Amino acid sequence: MVGISGGIRLTVDGQALEGRQASTGQHEIARPLTRRVPSESFGEQTTHQDMQQNEQHMQMPKVKEPRIIAVANQKGGVGKTTTTISLGAAAADLGHRVLIVDLDPQGNASTGLGINPRNLDASIYEVLLHDVPLEDAIEASSVKNLFVAPATLDLAGAEIELVPAFSRESRLKQAISGVAEDFDVVLIDCPPSLGLLTVNALAAAKEVLVPIQCEYYALEGLGQLLRNVNLVQRNLNAELEVSNIVLVMYDARTKLSAQVAGEVRQHFGPKVCRSVIPRTVRLSEAPSYGQPITTYAPMTRGAIAYRDLASEVFGDPS
Ligand SMILES: Nc1ncnc2c1ncn2[C@@H]1O[C@H](COP(=O)(O)OP(=O)(O)OP(=O)(O)O)[C@@H](O)[C@H]1O
Ligand SMILES: [Mg+2]
Repeated sequence: MVGISGGIRLTVDGQALEGRQASTGQHEIARPLTRRVPSESFGEQTTHQDMQQNEQHMQMPKVKEPRIIAVANQKGGVGKTTTTISLGAAAADLGHRVLIVDLDPQGNASTGLGINPRNLDASIYEVLLHDVPLEDAIEASSVKNLFVAPATLDLAGAEIELVPAFSRESRLKQAISGVAEDFDVVLIDCPPSLGLLTVNALAAAKEVLVPIQCEYYALEGLGQLLRNVNLVQRNLNAELEVSNIVLVMYDARTKLSAQVAGEVRQHFGPKVCRSVIPRTVRLSEAPSYGQPITTYAPMTRGAIAYRDLASEVFGDPS
């Protein structure tokens, strides 16, 4: 269990879209398709040349899989969405092809990237509940390389509607597998709960990034999140791990921020990112302009911090 005792002491007991334009047509998200070997070529008609070609195909390196990261913390208002948008935009600026999946019925990651929920043909709700391919729900953002699978209020019903659904925990995983070849990074913005939507995110992801607010009650509920990650790891997704903990809303003027940061670093060691996100008004203003901080106020402390974080977490694309 994770909690704070005695002041701020931390206690813990733990497919391809060849030639396709995104629906708004702003940025091409095409990547060269891996040539698949037709199964017929292994039949009786197979020539020596066919066989040589097939061998070459088989030796081709496997297409790189995207890093799929769930941004999760069931505590509300801790900076999940701000981190998803800002880190996603900064990673896109580095040249990574980034998809943000908005898994929160509040739809803040969508509106924060300038998406109007009224203008959508399909959203993540239709993807999860009506088997609409994820690629049909993907919208381009105003940032090159940055795309979003938006959420609308309909998603609020999904927690209940998913209950009787077939393979209800792995719907998002299946959906993402259809577009995996088109992205280097998939960031999933989780809702502030540990229900079926978050379980879908944890089942689809390989990594969990946890933003932690540098404030007094910041660690409340963290134990529960870590237990859920363990549960999903044991039952649904053995690859899953908490990869990054990000200290956000750090206020250098207060002792408390430094104390919380110190305790979190002491407990979680190298999982805690070196880059710390400061509390700044510009970060809270950016969503109302439908822009990430990297374009709204690119030279401010918040933008610089998220660019540093993107370099730390993703490095340069190879
Ligand atoms: N570093 C920061 N400095 C100042 N304000 C911030 C910072 N990060 C986030 N905020 C503001 O704090 C509020 C909560 O942030 P955000 O929406 O990112 O949290 P969340 O964890 O996604 O919330 P929810 O749980 O409701 O989804 C927002 O108004 C946001 O603009
Ligand atoms: Mg949010």
